[in-house]
Amino acid sequence: NHRLDNEYDYLFKIVLIGDSGVGKSNILSRFTRNEFCLESKSTIGVEFATRTLQVIRVRVFRNLLGTVHISDQFNSGNVGFIRVEGKTVKAQIWDTAGQERYRAITSAYYRGAVGALLVYDITKRQTFENSLRWLRELRDHADSNIVIMMAGNKSDLNHLRSVADEDGRSLAEKEGLSFLETSALEASNIEKAFQTILSEIY
Ligand code: GTP
Ligand code: MG
Repeated sequence: NHRLDNEYDYLFKIVLIGDSGVGKSNILSRFTRNEFCLESKSTIGVEFATRTLQVIRVRVFRNLLGTVHISDQFNSGNVGFIRVEGKTVKAQIWDTAGQERYRAITSAYYRGAVGALLVYDITKRQTFENSLRWLRELRDHADSNIVIMMAGNKSDLNHLRSVADEDGRSLAEKEGLSFLETSALEASNIEKAFQTILSEIY
């Protein structure tokens, strides 16, 4: 119960990418400090923040007879079992400028990253279109095993929406990424986005 913040099982680097203004820095501040700022300034250079949290993974063990269903854990039949494992993970989240003119770095930013959150703004179609460019950059510079989650941010602005939930979902599916719509303002799905990335990593 009295675990120190520097006691953890794993340290994972996660990078935030996406166009300027999509909300990367506010996603970071919401997740690490539970803060949101309506008038945040564009990021210059690179920043990072950390948060240590419990990540849960459900492992399904099968025997030779085949697939285990969830209800099988209550079944004394010889079909396998399910174990829930919790690990303490320190997430180190990197944030940089979406604006081209501030982006001197690339290799250093992606080096060692095991997860990425690729963000677009559901009210700005262009930021969604550009996500394919970000994906290409990620695939050129990051480790090929990197876990990627796509996030359509600003879901609170549904009345200004220009990207359908379904469009995001199908692009993500086509590219083999996880997908969620998020709102840094309402703190919606921010926790879930990082939890999903982290539990897929280990
Ligand atoms: P760069 O640093 O320039 O790459 O931008 P960024 O992606 O870090 O965007 P930032 O977090 O600075 O947010 C840009 C603007 O969008 C700010 O005015 C935020 O308040 C606003 N914003 C961020 N997330 C949300 C959200 O979920 N909902 C709404 N309504 N506004 C948001
Ligand atoms: Mg920023």
